[in-house]
Amino acid sequence: MYKLIAFDAYGTLFDVYSMGQLAEELFPGNGQSFALMWRDRQIEYTRLVTMSDPNPNGSQYYLPFWELTIRSLRYVCKRMGLALTAEYEKRLMDQYAKLIGFEDSLSVLKAIKDKGISTAILSNGSKEMLATVVESNGLQPYLDKVVTVEDVRLFKTAPQAYELLLKAFPVKKEEILFVSSNAWDALAAKWFGFDVFWVNRLGHPFEEIGSRPDYEGNALGKVLEVI
Ligand code: LAC
Repeated sequence: MYKLIAFDAYGTLFDVYSMGQLAEELFPGNGQSFALMWRDRQIEYTRLVTMSDPNPNGSQYYLPFWELTIRSLRYVCKRMGLALTAEYEKRLMDQYAKLIGFEDSLSVLKAIKDKGISTAILSNGSKEMLATVVESNGLQPYLDKVVTVEDVRLFKTAPQAYELLLKAFPVKKEEILFVSSNAWDALAAKWFGFDVFWVNRLGHPFEEIGSRPDYEGNALGKVLEVI
């Protein structure tokens, strides 16, 4: 029934919280809280940029996700009182560029392709960073397209960001299944009108607003059971 399965990138195919291990090495005792705060601030910056100028031609405050990731890193280090040297920043961002994928990311994409269904990424990430992380994880043979909000200069959860999938593929809204491990992303994609699969690896509660996702599972592989 679905002609396209579209995946969020960071947190869904690639493990953003794996940054906590390197952070723990650099900032002993603070790795996990640092990784959580970094991620939260990074997403907060995307919202600030988008909401402050939700212009259909793009936000005047737009900065590529890579840049927002660096700025949020610097902010969180200042906030937590952690000394971020140029060397530490480079090590953290080098690892972020080649973020490790979840163990089932490749096999799930391959299994979907084997069924003759199209696959894509729809991400806030900038073009270059997505190309790098897709390549370092060997995913490119199993992705038809990598769609990035860089083309609209508005981040998810702006509807224009989700709409990019309809422009990139000759499919109808109801023929798309959107997969995300970020509850806020799953919720907004549902609001946009996609069927949604929420990958809830950690058993978190779903958001207290909006409607529930169509599907939920504790691993990416569970997507294969509903297509
Ligand atoms: C993505 C981040 C926000 O769009 O998870 O890939």
